[in-house]
Amino acid sequence: VDTPDEALPHGSLRELRKQAHDCRRCELWKPATQTVFGEGPSDARIMLIGEQPGDQEDLAGKPFVGPAGRMLDQALVEIGLDRKQLYVTNTVKHFKFEPRGKFRLHKRADSREQHACRVWLDAELEKLQPETIVCLGSMAASAILGSSFKLLEQRGQWHELGDGRRAFATVHPSYLLRVPGEQERAQAYRDFVRDLRLLTAASP
Ligand code: URA
Repeated sequence: VDTPDEALPHGSLRELRKQAHDCRRCELWKPATQTVFGEGPSDARIMLIGEQPGDQEDLAGKPFVGPAGRMLDQALVEIGLDRKQLYVTNTVKHFKFEPRGKFRLHKRADSREQHACRVWLDAELEKLQPETIVCLGSMAASAILGSSFKLLEQRGQWHELGDGRRAFATVHPSYLLRVPGEQERAQAYRDFVRDLRLLTAASP
């Protein structure tokens, strides 16, 4: 029998979002506030994929609205891209954390959880058929470009996915917040922006 958690995702992006709301494919839904599904126009040509929602995303129910999101927004402004035209999502759709006093410490979703959540990312890709995919960080890169992808060696390079679709990976914006040293952090941000400029550079 088809129970809601076993049914395969189907329908429009709106319907997918509704189905994902009740997802029970892994245990992360229990402590989380809500599913954080992707967001953006259904005709977006560019899809940005992060890792998983953080504390603020969990509360807001929207991807990339916390500190990492502000970093991303700033970089997008810098290269002249309007975030409203992009579809922004995550590899894993629930916040994973460990309670620590009044804080919730971010924990990385493990491979089982990433695998369980994969149906939603696949459904978004299938529905949207984006021409261009940007993987933010190694979790998204391994989902889209394969588990042998080496982020630090292969970041900022186009990878053909077939059917005229392509992808590249860059570091995760939350990494930029953690780089020790002010100069190093500024350099990491410039490198991030340089990678993102692939989106606005003329096609080869
Ligand atoms: N980091 C992510 O990968 N995604 C978000 O939505 C927020 C922080």
